[in-house]
Amino acid sequence: MAFINENYLKLQAGYLFPEIGRRVNEFVKANPGKKVIRMGIGDVTQPLVPSVVKAFHEGVEEMANKESFKGYGPEQGYGFLREAIAVNAFNARGVDISADEIFISDGSKCDTGNIQEIFGHDNKIAIGDPVYPVYADTTVMAGKTGVCQPNGYYEGIIYMPCTAENHFIPELPTETPDLIFLCFPNNPTGAVASREELKKWVDYATENKSIILFDAAYEAFITNDSIPHSIYEIEGAKKVALEFRSLSKTAGFTGTRLAYTVIPNELVAYDKKGNPHQVSKLWNRRHTTKFNGVSYPVQKAAAAIFTEEGKKEVQAVIDYYMENARIMKKSLAETGFEVFGGENAPYIWVKTKNGMKSWEFFDKLLNEANVVGTPGSGFGPAGEGYFRFSAFADRENVLEAMERIKNL
Ligand code: MLT
Repeated sequence: MAFINENYLKLQAGYLFPEIGRRVNEFVKANPGKKVIRMGIGDVTQPLVPSVVKAFHEGVEEMANKESFKGYGPEQGYGFLREAIAVNAFNARGVDISADEIFISDGSKCDTGNIQEIFGHDNKIAIGDPVYPVYADTTVMAGKTGVCQPNGYYEGIIYMPCTAENHFIPELPTETPDLIFLCFPNNPTGAVASREELKKWVDYATENKSIILFDAAYEAFITNDSIPHSIYEIEGAKKVALEFRSLSKTAGFTGTRLAYTVIPNELVAYDKKGNPHQVSKLWNRRHTTKFNGVSYPVQKAAAAIFTEEGKKEVQAVIDYYMENARIMKKSLAETGFEVFGGENAPYIWVKTKNGMKSWEFFDKLLNEANVVGTPGSGFGPAGEGYFRFSAFADRENVLEAMERIKNL
């Protein structure tokens, strides 16, 4: 008899975005003539920039010729890409990260989920609430929690509520965690952490020998120069943090797939006897065993975003999305919503009116305005009564959606 991983039975619902997709498809089927505007999942709409497309073509051409053809590449990623990332994404900002500390992958969703595998089963994990649902769901799948309690919290996870009162920045937990997921700029609230805030976490992790799993997938959307893009801008962070980065939103790679995880050489975790072990060695072992690398043309295309031309082109697309965010934030505020985020992140976090539940608002918006957003409660219990709009839409659709919401 084959047995299932019963931890999956503890999961409360299907993964958030397929559930949204299911409801939207049902609506579209029942209302074929209606134009639905999608601002739910943070999926990009603007095409790959010219430099990336050119490099992508070149990569494919190389694969078409016997002399330049490539089979398996290095599991950790090609040196040219790891070097370009180290120099442009870190060294250029005064952060000392080297190419061998960068592991290329096909997505931060996978990396944030898979990373748990190299850490012990008994680690106490702290997670913001609300936050990107992958952290909690994969913790449950890995069997590190008990059941879901009536308040929506899984037993065994340390939740850190992020509310309007604390400006959506988690406070240090009372129970000490071993692993701490932090996401800044935050998905879904759009909140950002100042240097002082991040220093507080780095000091806390240092004191407790904890590790921060820092999700910086949206760092490219930071517009305020004083906000750190990387946790490694904080002194001492290389000893206590690893960092996830993604080209999905940064450079329109949601369909192309490329991300990377930074694991500094000095980052260690301990065995039961208290001996330190290099975390990057464990990740490397996992990566080389379970992953065969991202395809060569995609890595070649990714490297193009770090060229002078590529940087300019990518920045123009980011500016386009952030102008969407500005328009949305202003319009939603004028419509009487309490609005957060949207200034250093591509997400607008909105409080529903009159205490309406998040999914209720989702249905109302879909049925009456034919606009799709993401219910805040899907990101955690503290997201109840909130709603997230993604700024990754076409401008024309943003304007139309805002008009429709005004007329609700
Ligand atoms: C989101 O909408 O939160 C993201 O698109 C999800 C993801 O990046 O996996």
